[in-house]
Amino acid sequence: MERFNGKRVVVTGAGSGFGEAIAKRFASEGARVLVSDINEAGMTRVRDEIAAAGGEAISALCNVAEEAQVEAMIQSAADEFGGVDVLVNNAGYSHHQRLMWKISVEEFDAVFAVNVRGVFLGCKHVIPHMIEGGGGVIVNIASVGAVAPRPGVTPYNATKGAVLTMTKGLAMEVARNNIRVNAVNPVAADTGFMKGAMGVDSLDEEATERLVATIPRGRLARPADIAAAVTYLASDDGDFLTGTSINVDGGRSV
Ligand SMILES: NC(=O)c1ccc[n+]([C@@H]2O[C@H](COP(=O)([O-])OP(=O)(O)OC[C@H]3O[C@@H](n4cnc5c(N)ncnc54)[C@H](O)[C@@H]3O)[C@@H](O)[C@H]2O)c1
Repeated sequence: MERFNGKRVVVTGAGSGFGEAIAKRFASEGARVLVSDINEAGMTRVRDEIAAAGGEAISALCNVAEEAQVEAMIQSAADEFGGVDVLVNNAGYSHHQRLMWKISVEEFDAVFAVNVRGVFLGCKHVIPHMIEGGGGVIVNIASVGAVAPRPGVTPYNATKGAVLTMTKGLAMEVARNNIRVNAVNPVAADTGFMKGAMGVDSLDEEATERLVATIPRGRLARPADIAAAVTYLASDDGDFLTGTSINVDGGRSV
């Protein structure tokens, strides 16, 4: 028996990086997955790769900052699958790293719209379906920067702090509805994220070494590390966890 047989899972930002690994891990353990992203090419690729590997996946294009799009995306999962058991709010990005007082109001507002409003909208529109279905699990992807910020991405880290506070507050609101809400705090990984944060397609050796030097375990995070923590929180083994977060950071926050 797979851990997620018959479970209906929605993953935002699933067209690359952590979201891709999360969607594929759920599908490989029996879940029916809605792969959602703002990037159609990535989204379609992940959906098709899940199907080619024998899993079940559908897709829905969605900008998580736009309420009508989030509502329609969640509704399409509910229509297609008959409900939603798990939502992973993973979509997010960072403004280019710079000292905070050099960041424009436009950059600040844009990163809050995706990283904070996006999580708010996902939760807002999935919870009525979860209540109707008798329960569910939400996992939000925050960041180690929310609990141990370092210079350079302060507004970004503040978005993730807001995600952690929303995670805790919402968990209290829905605990008696059999809905659990938790978060995962990844440390740096060489994903598409680095294009926004550091302006590079992929980290070079020097940048990798600089980041690795801050991580006691001696390597960057891998998408599989994040998928393992997310699926643990969403599984029955995580049944008594709500309103909390796991630092998947190789010891960086200690
Ligand atoms: N990679 C890291 O170093 C790191 C560390 C800590 C936390 N995170 C967080 O992990 C999450 C996933 O990032 P990743 O590292 O996999 O990067 P990524 O860029 O590979 O993946 C992010 C995905 O989100 C999608 N996306 C971006 N804006 C969107 C929007 N408005 N609506 C819908 N989809 C959107 C992108 O198209 C992309 O497919 C993000 O929330 C990020 O903040 C990343």
